[in-house]
Amino acid sequence: MIYKGIIERYGKYLPVTGKTPVITLYEGNTPLLRAKNIEKFLGGNSEIYLKFEGANPTGSFKDRGMTMAISKAVEDGSKAVICASTGNTAASAAAYSARAGLKCSVIIPDGSIALGKLSQAMMHGAKVIALRGNFDDALKIVLEITEKYPLTLVNSLNPYRIEGQKTAAFEIIDFLGRAPDYHFIPVGNAGNITAYWKGYKEYVRSPKSEVRSQKNKDIGHWTLDIGLPKMMGFQASGSAPIVRGKPVKNPKTLATAIKIGNPASWKKAEQARDESKGIIDTVTDGEIIKAYKLLASLEGIFVEPASAASVAGLIKYNSKLKIKNEKLVIVCTLTGHGLKDPDRAIKSATQPKVIDQNMKKILKAIGL
Ligand code: F0G
Repeated sequence: MIYKGIIERYGKYLPVTGKTPVITLYEGNTPLLRAKNIEKFLGGNSEIYLKFEGANPTGSFKDRGMTMAISKAVEDGSKAVICASTGNTAASAAAYSARAGLKCSVIIPDGSIALGKLSQAMMHGAKVIALRGNFDDALKIVLEITEKYPLTLVNSLNPYRIEGQKTAAFEIIDFLGRAPDYHFIPVGNAGNITAYWKGYKEYVRSPKSEVRSQKNKDIGHWTLDIGLPKMMGFQASGSAPIVRGKPVKNPKTLATAIKIGNPASWKKAEQARDESKGIIDTVTDGEIIKAYKLLASLEGIFVEPASAASVAGLIKYNSKLKIKNEKLVIVCTLTGHGLKDPDRAIKSATQPKVIDQNMKKILKAIGL
């Protein structure tokens, strides 16, 4: 078994050279799981796949972008990086910085990040600043700092982050041998929807694409055109600036990862939506929690609440899209692992029964 990270796997599509120091934790190559139980639950003939990004080394899709951002920071001689974060970017930046020997500072909204993410950033030795304010306030401050001081910004405004994250779309095409008809994805700061759309466009159109050359070999010429998916982005209804058409001052949602009122890649997300003829819409916290529990109980996949926004969106659009009637190929990105937010899980599920060492009582509790 030879392990490879996304730079080694897809370097020819990335802004790297043989001289780029590759800082990797072997991110990417995440499972694309067929969701037969959710297919049954929704009814119809479509194939539904889940891209489980929680299987990345720090438990979220951020690692794809971070291996690029940190490798390029080292190549460019940077000594320190900084980001604002709802938690996952912070955890990933801290881990890759530790590996690279870079100093890392993260500014997080105090009280609004999940426990697992906070523990990661702390353990990897980042300077963790809990800001009295929200994510948008934190990003503003980080941008001010990086304008004045020699710290490398590793938020998704750093273009290398988007470059790395686009590889998830490559993997989907490599696995399916085609792009899906629809791609459902949570939207927060809007970097990831931007990255997937860039990835789909580049890979489908690239003559270098392995899938394309294979298929072309099969049919013996170069005119094969793999279709592009419609990008279906979902914001939490209490923090949905793109859907509302204006920044949200006090974003609210229990999906803290996407509690963002003024996304950095707003325009690019709209571009992805419009070029792909997709949509960006809202899902309520109730719909997010329903999808969160469904994924865990029907498919054995434990995600954090924000990640379930994609599946919540699929459920919302199931009848509207005629998913029931047609045989479509659908991919939902699940952005982060459920262990990131144990508090929410414990609040959402049946509590354990505390029982004495009494066989009768134990058997009764098991239901025997
Ligand atoms: N899902 C999870 C689990 C996230 O952590 C994020 C973003 C998103 C979805 C949304 O992705 O911002 O590219 O639209 N988390 C960032 C962070 C903001 O700081 O960790 P996006």
